[in-house]
Amino acid sequence: MMADIDRVLISQEGIARRVAELAAYITTDHTPPVLAEGEITIVPIMTGAMIFVSDLIRQIPLAMKIGLLTVSSYPGASVQSKGAQVLGGNIGDLTGRHVLVVDDILDSGGTLLAVMPEIKARGAASVKSCVLLRKDRVAARAIHVDYVGFEIPDEFVVGYGLDYNDYYRNLPDIVTLKIPLASV
Ligand code: IMP
Ligand code: MG
Repeated sequence: MMADIDRVLISQEGIARRVAELAAYITTDHTPPVLAEGEITIVPIMTGAMIFVSDLIRQIPLAMKIGLLTVSSYPGASVQSKGAQVLGGNIGDLTGRHVLVVDDILDSGGTLLAVMPEIKARGAASVKSCVLLRKDRVAARAIHVDYVGFEIPDEFVVGYGLDYNDYYRNLPDIVTLKIPLASV
């Protein structure tokens, strides 16, 4: 697995520093009186956001619930989005709650465009979004995101939760791969 790595784009130390900063911003913004009444529900988009969200929420000392949502846009060995599909989840009752959607990466924007209205429709008091990475693409810049960890080049990356064909999620750094990626 390590032999497949082309280059490290963001090291685990760099990720950790930025995650701590994001957690501090989110905590400030969700602490009264900045935020009106109501608790927060964190909604990580599975499976890619699982490592990011687990590091993030342990640095947010506020009462919160977690609601899981599974969205697939890169089925199997694809490196191009096939369109976001909400596959289900265990999201809980969002009525009157302040929701923070957490995703690993903003690419075409299809995932956030599919998920945000769905959460509003479930009666959330407010909905914000947080992504660890945002690709340098016109489509990605056109989407409003409340918290962005890093701006990265428009390249396919894995590690720290991000996968290729479900592999590499356990790499501690965010890296590019040197194996030829299927572009189907
Ligand atoms: P979007 O819906 O096109 O914005 O893409 C968001 C989703 O696609 C993310 O939640 C990731 O799961 C996946 N994705 C996009 N780009 C990459 C990448 O470079 N590596 C791994 N997964 C990616
Ligand atoms: Mg995803």
